[in-house]
Amino acid sequence: MGHDDPAIEALQQDGVQYPPPPALAAGAVVSDPATWERAAADPIAWWEEQARHLQWDAPWTRALDDDTPPFYRWFTGGQLNVAANCLDRHLAERADRVAFHWEGEPGDRQDITYGQLHARVSRFANALRDMGVERGGRVAIYMGMVPELPIAMLACARIGAAHTVVFGGFSAEALRDRMVDFGATVLVTQDEGWRAGKRVQLKANADAALDGAPGVHHAVVCRRTGGDVAWTEGRDRWFHEVEEAAHPDCPAEPMDAEQMLYALYTSGTTGKPKGIVHTSGGYLTGVAATHRMVFDLHDDDIYWCAADIGWVTGHSYIVYGPLANGATSVMYEGAPGFPEPDRLWEIASRHRVSILYMAPTAIRMFMKWGDEYPARHDLSSIRVLGSVGEPINPEAWEWYRQHIGGGTAPVVDTWWQTETGSIMISPLPGLSTLKPGSASGPLPGISARVVGEDGQEVPRGQGGYLVMDRPWPSMLRTILGDDQRFVDTYWSRFPGMYLAGDGCRVDADGDFWLLGRIDDVMNVSGHRLSTIEVESALVDHPSVAEAAVVGRKDPITGEAIAAFVILRDGVHGDEGLIATLRDHVATQIGPIAKPASIVLTPDLPKTRSGKIMRRLLRDVSEHRQLGDVTTLANEEVVAEIAREAASGQHQDD
Ligand code: WTA
Repeated sequence: MGHDDPAIEALQQDGVQYPPPPALAAGAVVSDPATWERAAADPIAWWEEQARHLQWDAPWTRALDDDTPPFYRWFTGGQLNVAANCLDRHLAERADRVAFHWEGEPGDRQDITYGQLHARVSRFANALRDMGVERGGRVAIYMGMVPELPIAMLACARIGAAHTVVFGGFSAEALRDRMVDFGATVLVTQDEGWRAGKRVQLKANADAALDGAPGVHHAVVCRRTGGDVAWTEGRDRWFHEVEEAAHPDCPAEPMDAEQMLYALYTSGTTGKPKGIVHTSGGYLTGVAATHRMVFDLHDDDIYWCAADIGWVTGHSYIVYGPLANGATSVMYEGAPGFPEPDRLWEIASRHRVSILYMAPTAIRMFMKWGDEYPARHDLSSIRVLGSVGEPINPEAWEWYRQHIGGGTAPVVDTWWQTETGSIMISPLPGLSTLKPGSASGPLPGISARVVGEDGQEVPRGQGGYLVMDRPWPSMLRTILGDDQRFVDTYWSRFPGMYLAGDGCRVDADGDFWLLGRIDDVMNVSGHRLSTIEVESALVDHPSVAEAAVVGRKDPITGEAIAAFVILRDGVHGDEGLIATLRDHVATQIGPIAKPASIVLTPDLPKTRSGKIMRRLLRDVSEHRQLGDVTTLANEEVVAEIAREAASGQHQDD
């Protein structure tokens, strides 16, 4: 990877710096600047110290088992229950404390206390047992952002069953594939979800998915909108009915630290999504510790992570981290701009939110909507802001701090992945001097480096591959059912090091600048999608012969999906067909995967060995001067594609 690689473009060399606000620094959760050094001196002891914040039923006998790398195990011999740590443990002192200030998109509200959450989780855990789910069982969850979603997750944890949450924006096919791969026997879903005033047909999608997933014997349906849904007797049951019928007491059982808590599917460089496996003790240690330190969590904070639980951010920082810490959170069901562009700011000011965490794509959208919307509301309670999911451009960072953070709140730019389970690279708000666009450095206990092709650390200022050269407790344990892919994907390029798949540069001060993916994974509005996944969906359509997909830069979504399609002989291409193809991708994967533009082309630029030259297509999509074409077999094609592309871009709805 050279300096001219577009993935390794410097974002911002020098510029403004923001030291921590003195008041925050004075009372910060982490206030000792020697913390990083202390953790680095003995990382295992550091993580043991963090694990002791949890409640263990049996102590671990070995903190890190590294006998068979890269299959690391943490806190072996130890036993705990994740749900007991998130709920029961808080009952003595904070049963009446609100866990979630929940708000539905239509405006309905519920304050759910720890006591109430505990009661509902206990009943639903028994309901799952009544459906044959035991320790080690598998439950799929396909829901919108309703309280029953975390309830279902915690109920699984309570009885030692693993869950896989499938984002509610995914299609029936995506849901089916995940349920089958996961081996789910029960699906928890809902009638419909609310999104921007429209009804999302969750149950109808689930029905279609269940047709191809014969191993799923029960579907539990949460009633949300009350819309009509088809019903399969014997298989389908209402959430509220099974919950009511279940026994109220469900003692939390001690589980092994390495018991699977969940698998979450994410895109890799092939068409088949991979089930990233997380276990119990190490994962909970990681998310609880980072949630406390990175957001400087205090007892009186009102915390809001405005992500969807369908992604890892929601798993770690809406459900498990905040609940393990006994925090009070806001949880919102719907679209950020509904019914008005100031919806989030109205909610934030009403609840006096003090910590807010969201994705750069949302921040850029709010910027576009205008300063007047946050200005309508009193956001003075906000003291820490977080960003996650993609590199945040300095302009958006400054806007966030200024217009949402009152010009004083530190912005913690948190780098991590589905695979890492918890935040890895981030400032600590009471200690770090912030540079807009930089994620500062590895958190205490984390060891990250930037290496070149040869696996050697590159000099500061130079771009390279981001790797972790030490295991950490919340790391993925494997890819479900595919240990070999786990080894190949993450551990084989540089032996002994975890390959993150991101480009990175460390500046002269030691601060990390994330530079985007180095592989064929796109990041659209903070959602990971592989180019191959979208290509497969396109080629699946009978009129398509071949397709190539690239992520082109987009001012709002970070990257936008640009597709190039060769039609089968005799198929007539027009605007109608392009619309059909875009819809086809939405049906195959989900609306988030809909290409922003599709260019119909007679051919694709390929190397002499037949590899599609994505770099060139990206150049075409971004209207840049074309890159190197010397290895290209069909040079004239590029000019033709460029002409086609210039004649019309089809923006997303
Ligand atoms: C990207 C989301 C730059 C990165 C938690 C990573 C980021 C991928 C940042 C993981 C950040 C996430 N700065 N890039 N602060 N946070 N990324 O699995 O490319 O959905 O590899 O996890 O998002 O996406 P995932």
